[in-house]
Amino acid sequence: MKLFIDSGNLDEIRSLVPLGIIDGITTNPSLLAKEGGDSRKLLKQICDLVKGPVSAEVVATDFDGMVKEGRDLATIDDHIVVKVPFGKAGVRACGALSHEGIKVNVTLCFSAAQALLAAKVGATFVSPFVGRLDDIATSGMGLIEEIVQIYDNYEFGTEVLVASVRHPIHVVEAARLGADVCTCPTKVIDSLFNHPLTDIGLARFLADWKKAQSQ
Ligand code: E4P
Repeated sequence: MKLFIDSGNLDEIRSLVPLGIIDGITTNPSLLAKEGGDSRKLLKQICDLVKGPVSAEVVATDFDGMVKEGRDLATIDDHIVVKVPFGKAGVRACGALSHEGIKVNVTLCFSAAQALLAAKVGATFVSPFVGRLDDIATSGMGLIEEIVQIYDNYEFGTEVLVASVRHPIHVVEAARLGADVCTCPTKVIDSLFNHPLTDIGLARFLADWKKAQSQ
């Protein structure tokens, strides 16, 4: 399973990329607004750092606007994946941009029916938001299971990108269900490294070693 960072923060991205576990980045208008400044420049810097897919979302809400903005975002770097919100305009724009060879991530997916439509128009990625579904007492991971099964049934090439991830169990479940990608905030990626028995085990090894050296 590929692991993406869900962030527009250069320091966070710089701290994780050297670990060799990061395959790409997702951003959204909220994340880029938090960073401020010139978002095109920031997206270019992120692409140069990661050298993998970097999702950049359109803010237009109509078909013509989404296509125009998507084409423009795609000129920033070859690694840019244009993110469009699900809906009639988004699905149509996904089809048009994909037809031109531009990679598209259909975002704000909350049902298997939406994921089916995104795949039919050639989306490169679909982003089901598991955390926001869990928040309204609906199983986010249940949706991932449904989408993976539907895509397998028809051999769709669209990759299932698990988004709105809140904790390490989401990541493990995404991998168990065969999702293609999981995008996580930095704190969730950090938490994947932690286990108290690892810390206790290392402390004991080092203490035993130190004791033996002083004898
Ligand atoms: C995905 O691409 C989105 O940027 C993101 O995962 C949304 O997560 P949130 O529900 O924590 O805002």
